[in-house]
Amino acid sequence: MAEPLLTGDVPSEDGPAARRPPGPGHPSGLGRPENADAAGGLAPPASLADFAERARAVLPADVWDFVNGGSGTETTLAANRAALDRVAVLPRVLTGVDRPRTEAVLPGGTYALPVAVAPMAYQRLLHPGGERALAAAARAAGVPYAASTLSSTPIEGIAAAGGTVWFQLYWLRERALVADLLDRAHAAGCAAVMVTVDVPVLGRRLRDVRNGFALPAHVTAANLPRGRDDLAHQGTPGVSAVAAHTDAVFAPALSWADLAWLRARTPLPLLVKGVLDPRDAVRAAETGADAVVVSNHGGRQLDGAPATAAVLPEVVAAVGERCAVLLDSGVRSGTDVLRALALGAAGVLVGRPLLWALAAGGRAGAEAALALLAAELRDALTLTGCADPAAARHLSTRIGG
Ligand SMILES: Cc1cc2nc3c(=O)[nH]c(=O)nc-3n(C[C@H](O)[C@H](O)[C@H](O)COP(=O)(O)O)c2cc1C
Repeated sequence: MAEPLLTGDVPSEDGPAARRPPGPGHPSGLGRPENADAAGGLAPPASLADFAERARAVLPADVWDFVNGGSGTETTLAANRAALDRVAVLPRVLTGVDRPRTEAVLPGGTYALPVAVAPMAYQRLLHPGGERALAAAARAAGVPYAASTLSSTPIEGIAAAGGTVWFQLYWLRERALVADLLDRAHAAGCAAVMVTVDVPVLGRRLRDVRNGFALPAHVTAANLPRGRDDLAHQGTPGVSAVAAHTDAVFAPALSWADLAWLRARTPLPLLVKGVLDPRDAVRAAETGADAVVVSNHGGRQLDGAPATAAVLPEVVAAVGERCAVLLDSGVRSGTDVLRALALGAAGVLVGRPLLWALAAGGRAGAEAALALLAAELRDALTLTGCADPAAARHLSTRIGG
């Protein structure tokens, strides 16, 4: 039987995801009995990390691993966090700032926060509301939602549920399919195209290999022609079906000529995601990108790639005013957003924490997570004497203390 969705949640098209039911006393997953307050109510999460334990309690173990795992020995996954933790920001004092504004300019517009929801595949693995629920939460928070090529809801359905939706392009082997996806995204009202360039093949994600991870039948690559995701459903011990699928459908040998083709093919703002080397960032800007996203895919691609916070300043310095620079991989709080801004980013993408919140409480959970992030960022700006995120880009930093 389907679990009740939270009020205001977006119903699924064809039944619930395979999830463990929440335990008694916390039907939404957002509160747990041990966190109950004196009145018997359930204490809300106090940090984005608090959503992780709630998600873990309701998700099948292999889905938890798919979301939280990295590639190889997960060295880069850990390095992302360690590098952010090493960034100390020097507060400015006596600036007369009372209540800072959090609005920020990102490609295509001004948004409530310098934050966008990272593109993440197959969100109906997490919750029956899937992409629609998370996109609706992003709309409520006033931030862009990046819809993955591998979404489990068609791009048209996501655009209808969301506010500002960016279409994330994975370059498929068939150019005609790429062109069709771009046309569909434009027609659906997407506000930007974000092309991901760090997945010539999927990184070796050992948790998925060991789990023989495959998609359940009700979670499909909804933007692809029927049957084009069959491989992702074929569970084989010792094989990640998701990796086998992407290796079969993704174009492995993209070049700058392809990026130039894309720039000419879409009139929308173009973001290039998955850049780490400053030379590639400059070349992307010179090819017409409106932004680059300094990303190592949350530690899911090249294990041994540097932490994004470690290379961000070099990329910002190299790119200069040519285009905006965003960062993702490891952002877990408003303090982390402040750190990225102080290192020169225009904004960040947030990934896994929003999947945890989606798993824990559907749309309401994701809204709560984004509201918490906004409150944390406002506090961080207040504590550093910044009137807005633009001012935070002038703060000084010290690495390692
Ligand atoms: C479950 C999952 C699925 C993802 N799917 C995609 C995707 O379809 N396209 C993409 O460009 N990046 C994808 N990513 C990478 C994210 O966009 C982002 O780079 C990364 O999650 C940021 O790191 P964080 O999770 O530590 O915040 C995915 C990440 C996760 C965790």
